[in-house]
Amino acid sequence: METLRITCYPDPVLRTRAAEVKKMDAGLKDLAEKMLQTMRADRGIGLAGNQVGRLNRLVVVEAIPEILEKPLVLVNPVLRETEGRRKDEEGCLSFPGGISAKVTRHREVCVEYWDLAEKKIRIETQGLLAQVLQHEIDHLDGILFPDRLSCFARHALLRRYRQSGKRNFDPQRKIE
Ligand code: CO
Repeated sequence: METLRITCYPDPVLRTRAAEVKKMDAGLKDLAEKMLQTMRADRGIGLAGNQVGRLNRLVVVEAIPEILEKPLVLVNPVLRETEGRRKDEEGCLSFPGGISAKVTRHREVCVEYWDLAEKKIRIETQGLLAQVLQHEIDHLDGILFPDRLSCFARHALLRRYRQSGKRNFDPQRKIE
């Protein structure tokens, strides 16, 4: 099993917009497989390209009991429609150390993406999966979950993160 290094806040790759995937080749499939393994090794339920230092619009989502039988690989996902509001606890593998906060997001979403077989897929979902999809699509746009908090809550969260000593940001790492 080969896992990739997860980039942690404040790595600038997390603030960079990922580029559209133009070609579904073996390299992309291999990257998706490694991202799934990396996500599992860290017990996450979603991971975006930026989080492994790859600026491709690629997201993986773990199988979620009673919602998703199989993990999802989403290429160039787009949030098409949204409905309602929902506030729930949220964390991120790029903020290690168990840092989390209640984030307000859309309750229901419609997301379009391509799968690895180059088939266009449209899913309508709500609850946890809707929350994960919004979180991961945000990553592709360089948006992180603390950005969705009030100014006060964001500062409190970032302070907790700094004090946790879990940051492992390497300024020398090169962006692929
Ligand atoms: Co995240």
